[in-house]
Amino acid sequence: MAFDLPPAIMGISHSSIFLASAACVLLVSGIVWQQICVCAPEWIKELDALGQPRKQKLARTAVVCGGSISGTIVARVLADHFDRVVLIDPELDDIQKPKTRILQYNASHILLSLFADGARRLWPSFDTEMRAAGGRLVSADIQLHYSGIPVPAPHWDYPTGCFPTSLGMRRSEAQKALYGLLIQHPTSAKITVLPGTVRGVEPSEDRASIRSVVVRLPDGTHTTVDEVGLLVDCTGATQAGMKWLGSAGYSLPNNLRCSYKPNIRYATICFSVFPALESRLPIPQSPNGRLSEYAFVPHFTYGLSVTALFKLDNNKIQLMLTSSEDNLPRTVPEIIPYMSSIRGHAPFPSWLVETVELLCEHCPEPSFDNIKIPDQSYVKWHSVLAGTLPSNFIAVGDSNLQLNPVHGQGFAKAMLNAITLNSLLHSLDSGLHNLPRDFSARYFKNNAVRTEGLWDATRLHDYGALTCEPMIGESRNTGRLVRWFEVKLLTAATKHKDVAAALWRVRNLIAGESALLAPTILWKVLWTGSRF
Ligand SMILES: Cc1cc2nc3c(=O)[nH]c(=O)nc-3n(C[C@H](O)[C@H](O)[C@H](O)COP(=O)(O)OP(=O)(O)OC[C@H]3O[C@@H](n4cnc5c(N)ncnc54)[C@H](O)[C@@H]3O)c2cc1C
Ligand SMILES: *[C@@H]1O[C@H](CO)[C@@H](O)[C@H](O)[C@H]1NC(C)=O
Repeated sequence: MAFDLPPAIMGISHSSIFLASAACVLLVSGIVWQQICVCAPEWIKELDALGQPRKQKLARTAVVCGGSISGTIVARVLADHFDRVVLIDPELDDIQKPKTRILQYNASHILLSLFADGARRLWPSFDTEMRAAGGRLVSADIQLHYSGIPVPAPHWDYPTGCFPTSLGMRRSEAQKALYGLLIQHPTSAKITVLPGTVRGVEPSEDRASIRSVVVRLPDGTHTTVDEVGLLVDCTGATQAGMKWLGSAGYSLPNNLRCSYKPNIRYATICFSVFPALESRLPIPQSPNGRLSEYAFVPHFTYGLSVTALFKLDNNKIQLMLTSSEDNLPRTVPEIIPYMSSIRGHAPFPSWLVETVELLCEHCPEPSFDNIKIPDQSYVKWHSVLAGTLPSNFIAVGDSNLQLNPVHGQGFAKAMLNAITLNSLLHSLDSGLHNLPRDFSARYFKNNAVRTEGLWDATRLHDYGALTCEPMIGESRNTGRLVRWFEVKLLTAATKHKDVAAALWRVRNLIAGESALLAPTILWKVLWTGSRF
């Protein structure tokens, strides 16, 4: 009994043991939470399987409908899994001819590093061939300025010269060069290019899969591609798969496709810069180059006036301007006055304005490409009831999900879809000949887990703008919490290197969104009062 402790002390020691163990649990779960959040996403690990051929190929023909960015990537991936791939697009008869069916063919593009990382796996000569076509392999740094305040890319996290790179090239030229890579690669022996338009599909007798594809040829006659093993909708904004399956008698839910109207105008002004002028431009030097020399993204209450300057292939410099009104310049004298109307927390640097002035003064007749961004839309194939879709139908790229282009994710998202597809195909039993009944459902499910966050983040951001028309069932109030977090995150990224690094990685699809919820990042974000 002598060793009995007085009840009060017992109480203290009980509660302190409780506190100590609670602290331990918190610490351990904090560490686990941190580890889970910062761990590389599955798709980065899966990059290594990209470009690796399957030993025993799958039966029948893989049919890729649409031969733009997604179609080119997917045809290359499928040539690793099938002996016969058919790539169909009405504009593939002459690759040098400018495409007319792609609204954004002449629009400024930035290509996030995940796109280049994937393309290098698919085409080991990617860098060499792109350079040969005039493209620049540069740091994946867009010199982001949020409302004029710099949000740095994490150069400090990489040894000098080792920052991830991506391709600085006009979209039109990148697309041609990529197609060139496709038809030069050894796997191209497996790929048949069929210039034509897919008009419809025919199901198998039990409707469990697509059996054939009907194609209209350029001369107006029709042909069918039979023995379809896998059918991939890569028709971009047309999102033709919905029509094909609907006409073939598959019952699709009415709310399969959701969309909203960002109401943004997008201007690309392209200057041809002769070398003597280029050396006079007051653009700050960067040793490895960068994707964009300057990018201004406004706070949503200031409208949607993104301004960016890109050095591209073959001495081209593009100025990209967006607006929520129809007020973008269409002639040279309108450019500087338009730029001076843009407001933010800090003005444009003087070198930017001087550079644009010099370009306007000395470059003969820049080209103007002014377009209205179409509705952003998401075809929620993953929401279709199990067993409804044909087992061998999938969609890749914009035919599945079209994001607001000002975030520059389109090419990288198509690559992410292709990584998901490739991994799923590699996971099938090596002896397997036919795709399993749930193949389509599994692809769409895996893919939705990886890309739905992009749809949510960009859409809810856009709802902050007065001119945006939300999708049915939502209002401009939807996502207020997300926008509150977004401005705090951006503020924290202007102050803390690790927050800036996490944000950059998430934006480049190198990290999953969970990286922003890691305790070391989250507390800084929540602690920092918004500057914007
Ligand atoms: C203004 C603007 C700027 C953009 N900026 C960027 C950027 O900076 N970075 C970025 O990564 N992304 C950007 N994007 C998005 C990017 O352009 C798209 O994500 C990309 O083009 C999608 O490629 P895709 O192959 O899926 O579709 P698309 O490029 O739209 O191609 C669809 C193809 O399908 C073909 N087709 C259509 N119907 C049929 C049919 N029935 N049969 C056969 N073929 C058919 C068409 O001829 C076309 O070749 C931007 C988009 C816009 C609108
Ligand atoms: C792109 O520009 C070329 C000329 O440079 C033009 O022929 C073509 O029609 C344009 N494409 C689109 C979609 O605007």
